[in-house]
Amino acid sequence: MNESSHLDELLASRAGGTRRAIEPCTVVIFGASGDLTSRKLIPALYHLALEKALPTPYRIIGFARREKTDDSFRVELREALGKFSRTKPVNDTVWAAFAANLHYCQADISDASGYQRLNELINRADDEKLKSNLLFYLATNPSQFGEISQHLSDVGLLEKCENGGCMQRLVVEKPFGHDLPSAQQLNAELIRNAHENQIFRIDHYLGKETVQNILTFRFSNGIFEHLWDRDSVDHVQITVAEKLGVGSRGGYYEESGAMRDMIQNHVLQVLSLVAMEPPVSLEAESIRDEKVKLLKSIRPMTPADVAKHVVRGQYFAGEVDGEARPAYRSEPKVDPKSNVETFVAMKLWIDNWRWSGVPFYVRTGKNLPVSASEVRIQFKPAPNILYGAKSDVHLDPNSLTLRLQPNEGIALRFNGKVPGGGTKLQPVRMQFSYDTEFGAYTPEAYERLLLEAIAGDATLFIRRDEVETAWGIVDSIRNAWLEKPLTNREFYLAGTWGPTASDDLLSCDQREWRHPQPQK
Ligand code: BG6
Repeated sequence: MNESSHLDELLASRAGGTRRAIEPCTVVIFGASGDLTSRKLIPALYHLALEKALPTPYRIIGFARREKTDDSFRVELREALGKFSRTKPVNDTVWAAFAANLHYCQADISDASGYQRLNELINRADDEKLKSNLLFYLATNPSQFGEISQHLSDVGLLEKCENGGCMQRLVVEKPFGHDLPSAQQLNAELIRNAHENQIFRIDHYLGKETVQNILTFRFSNGIFEHLWDRDSVDHVQITVAEKLGVGSRGGYYEESGAMRDMIQNHVLQVLSLVAMEPPVSLEAESIRDEKVKLLKSIRPMTPADVAKHVVRGQYFAGEVDGEARPAYRSEPKVDPKSNVETFVAMKLWIDNWRWSGVPFYVRTGKNLPVSASEVRIQFKPAPNILYGAKSDVHLDPNSLTLRLQPNEGIALRFNGKVPGGGTKLQPVRMQFSYDTEFGAYTPEAYERLLLEAIAGDATLFIRRDEVETAWGIVDSIRNAWLEKPLTNREFYLAGTWGPTASDDLLSCDQREWRHPQPQK
């Protein structure tokens, strides 16, 4: 199967069998001089062009303040593509055709005349659809979302459309607010000029194949879902670990910390896919309804619960893979007395019929020993009879590990008899690896997300009530930390698995973290 038919098939399957037609579309990127455009968005669009997945015709317009012409914009992006493209070398024939569809509109975001010029540029297209089917990608500071959508509406480029069939859509980047009130405020600004079904909030984890596969794995197989509840599952571990430190992003990170940067979005998204009930259909709203229901059933925490069930940490100087790492407090643009957390581990309870009594342990952090994201379903142990009754046999409980990245795949762990006399047992694994099974098909999350937004399918984007519910969970924890400086126990050596309190969180329940294995 070639790559574009593979994409077609995936898209068709998620739309419940009816392939959504991808229609001619103009993509306008606000903040087109920024990092995201050159590192992620243009390389993703170029690869979609390479795979012939973009509609015909299409246009891409960069909107930003810096002075540039169409030509200089193209030259700059070609240079960046050479660096950031996931396939090399860049195909110059494809690039030349792609670049001919790239335009630049120089204007300040708050200058109304810039939007007039944008309107004229859009209306200069030959194809009628290119004038009405518009995707506005807001790669800007969230404080500008409201202003941009107001200007777009004023010049008639964005029309609020209540009854589906919307031709104009807004894609917005994270962070979507910094707490519940600010997210509500952003939502209120956006829905002044666009209906909820025109707003596509990005969480790039949802663009990852392995994250999408969580639902496929659970609901296209007959055997696993029977085990997916409090009768069979002892507990669940979700780890999103990074070897990278904060590096040059200190300014941003000081305002966010691990809780806002990773838990509020990526970790809670993965958790909701792992734990949600089956949706009534594969349509976006059915899936998102179930995710919201799940988030709402996470037990709210009092400050006393936070003290007991949430561990925060901050790295001090150490080594990752033999490379020296500075302390977080010594990173550029970080307050030398900062109390911002670079690590969080916590125990969550989901108060619904399926999961009552099953703890979900989640953790994320920077400067950890490996970069890996995994979900581990740890099943209840076999009873203490037969093999379990033998004093010389240690029975490992079964587990199922969804390796989201890297080394993408799924492993089922069970006990096997070591060949030979006696009853010696050993845990063994059944492995599924994406690479072995499907070859190295690894599109960037942004390719998938852009294509879905162009097709108008919101399944992989975050709905308003979802983002607000997630903020509610995170806010109650962060509020309990207010005015509480980090204690010595909350620091961890860069290159280790967080503060020892993270291990204690599980050991006091007679459990332990299973760390993802480094990639071979
Ligand atoms: C981003 C966070 O959303 O996700 C970063 O802001 C983090 O801090 C990144 O490094 C992780 O994404 P990935 O795809 O590398 O796991």
